[in-house]
Amino acid sequence: MIDASPVACEEFFSYLEKLFSISINDIRVMIQDFHAEMGKGLSGDESSLKMIPSFIDKPKGTEAGEFLALDLGGTNFRVLTVRLDGKGNANVPFASKFAIPQKDMQGTGVALFDFIVGCIDVFLTENHVDRSKTYDLAFTFSFPVEQTSIAAGKLIVWTKGFTATGVQGHDVILLLNEALRRKDIRCINITALANDTVGTLAARSYIDPACDLGVIMGTGTNACYREAASRIGKLNTVDAHGHMIVNMEWGNFDKVRVTCYDRLLDKASVNPGAMVMEKMVSGMYLGEITRLVLMDLIRRGFILVNETPAAEYFQERGSLKTEDMSRIEGDRTDRLDGVALFFERNGFSNITLHDKILLQRLCRIISTRAARLGAAAISAVLTWIDPKFKDVHTVGIDGSLFEKYPGFKTKMMNVLEELYGEKAERITLVHAKDGSGKGAAIIAAVAASSEAGRV
Ligand code: GLC
Repeated sequence: MIDASPVACEEFFSYLEKLFSISINDIRVMIQDFHAEMGKGLSGDESSLKMIPSFIDKPKGTEAGEFLALDLGGTNFRVLTVRLDGKGNANVPFASKFAIPQKDMQGTGVALFDFIVGCIDVFLTENHVDRSKTYDLAFTFSFPVEQTSIAAGKLIVWTKGFTATGVQGHDVILLLNEALRRKDIRCINITALANDTVGTLAARSYIDPACDLGVIMGTGTNACYREAASRIGKLNTVDAHGHMIVNMEWGNFDKVRVTCYDRLLDKASVNPGAMVMEKMVSGMYLGEITRLVLMDLIRRGFILVNETPAAEYFQERGSLKTEDMSRIEGDRTDRLDGVALFFERNGFSNITLHDKILLQRLCRIISTRAARLGAAAISAVLTWIDPKFKDVHTVGIDGSLFEKYPGFKTKMMNVLEELYGEKAERITLVHAKDGSGKGAAIIAAVAASSEAGRV
């Protein structure tokens, strides 16, 4: 029987708050687990953290040149030209964005790479690029790739809803080159393959030597950091000197406490059992977790009771998006007019202020957990690099959650302050804009320098 009394509703919300809470104690435990998984991943043992060597070190800031860059990793694909002046400026004279059709994301790899090359063709034509010359190109491919050199690597597994066949286990540069040949495009020389986190670290450290951690908090979540090659046990000894950026693939970290709602989400995903932390933290999933809890609240008669049958409206997967949450949580009006708009758009007309307050509170619960988990992961990497915070550290972060979600950065900073008190001042979280575009070009420039392919 449904007990929809205000007391029962309040009790249920307190339960939810507890269920999704991440205490500072939880975070301390998580940091230890993170370190254990990092160690195992680096030495090549079974670990939820893949710890993938990128075969490139940070830029010096003096790299210069003009590069083409491709950015594949979310709902859009981008082609850009990036100009580096060697003095910290990365300009983007030309950029085009293309929505990736679902049929190419989830069809065959050939179709996906033909789509990519079709976009390159459009870009070259629209910008009157002289095809008799050769252009160095950096490919930001934001998925777990087992790199074997700066411009070669096999996709380990798709993430973020991509399922195109015939790509997993294959060298993505090879696939791209084959697609270029199919379209007879001969003016492109692919010189670098990079993850978006690596691009983000490169983009920020190009202008800020204190940056040693690149993080994405967007559609997916992940990080890379600068590691001593001698600590990467699984690296071929020939490569084991100097420093190298390591792509952690932290979205797959699984030493986290999941709720029944996370389990539901996971079960319905295209990759059940994988990317446990990403499914709790990143923009592709937050709206969906919130929708699942909202459905439960409706079923229990705590919210939208004047709307029958309310549950039907939110039956559909994806009917509540992380962007909606962002607007809902950012609504500071007395009567929560922004929240009302969201409900009205979904066909509700009898919403009460109480409904709006509850939805806003729910969004806050889900986004707070995400921000705290993200900050915990950052803390784990920082204490791995510098346990006593002897140095100052900049964390370059890109992605819509960090950039746009109201209060996200503050919640992350709060965790660092709770953990480290005054020492938290030694950590700066900054928005590293367009790491996956500009950063890729910087990486191509590092690769083109004398140390190409070797750090
Ligand atoms: C997913 C990908 C990872 C990427 C991240 C952010 O976690 O597996 O490679 O860096 O999304 O885009």
